[in-house]
Amino acid sequence: MTTPSTRAGAAPYSKLFLSVYDLWVIRLSNDYGWRCNRRHFVDLYREHLGRRHLEVGPGSGWILANVDLPTDIDLTLVDLNTNSLEHTASRLGVTPTLIEHDVLLPLNDNVDQFDSVSINYVLHCLPGNWSTKSVALTNLANALTPEGVLFGSTVIGVDQKYTALGSALMFAYNRIGAFANRSDDLPGLRRLLSDRFEQVEVTMVGNVALFVARRPLHAK
Ligand SMILES: C[S@@+](CC[C@H](N)C(=O)[O-])C[C@H]1O[C@@H](n2cnc3c(N)ncnc32)[C@H](O)[C@@H]1O
Repeated sequence: MTTPSTRAGAAPYSKLFLSVYDLWVIRLSNDYGWRCNRRHFVDLYREHLGRRHLEVGPGSGWILANVDLPTDIDLTLVDLNTNSLEHTASRLGVTPTLIEHDVLLPLNDNVDQFDSVSINYVLHCLPGNWSTKSVALTNLANALTPEGVLFGSTVIGVDQKYTALGSALMFAYNRIGAFANRSDDLPGLRRLLSDRFEQVEVTMVGNVALFVARRPLHAK
């Protein structure tokens, strides 16, 4: 069952917020808050998108709209907030399958496995600590084919030097529950991924951990 603290992580994405998301989050917060320019996300997606792809937490859909999606892509979007699903679908040149769903709960058994899954800037929105958030990674590992790849990014909350804007965002977002990443450390993220995937790469850019995890261990 989805809890109120999980809902708080998806609550800010009103139609109004989504209309300014690209400017506020993708451009300003990334560059001046987290020191991770948007091109890093575009590169990550361009490199790892598979033909049958699941995007978890698309937000405004800026990344998908800027990666030149193959016309034959079989794309599914999962989000707890229908505004994010509809806003993203409206700006893509392909027609995705939309699923309103909490990533902390297993995907329905009748959904076929994916070649790739992305979860970008969602882990820092999920409530609790790595132990709670690990459930999402287990669910996504189970949604992948044996050769599948999971990729994404998250703002790290432990042992970080933030800019003034980054510190203000960390304080404000954690206070309202939009973020819950005060105990999200980098070794913990590496461990969670390595427990679930054969091959894991994690790279820090500014305060953001960019990760790629291949071959889910369930498939062995
Ligand atoms: C910060 S936005 C990230 C948007 C986009 N991926 C990006 O990188 O710009 C977080 C997204 O995750 C969704 N979300 C938050 N908690 C969720 C949950 N438990 N299950 C599914 N989606 C969730 C929010 O509704 C929102 O669309």
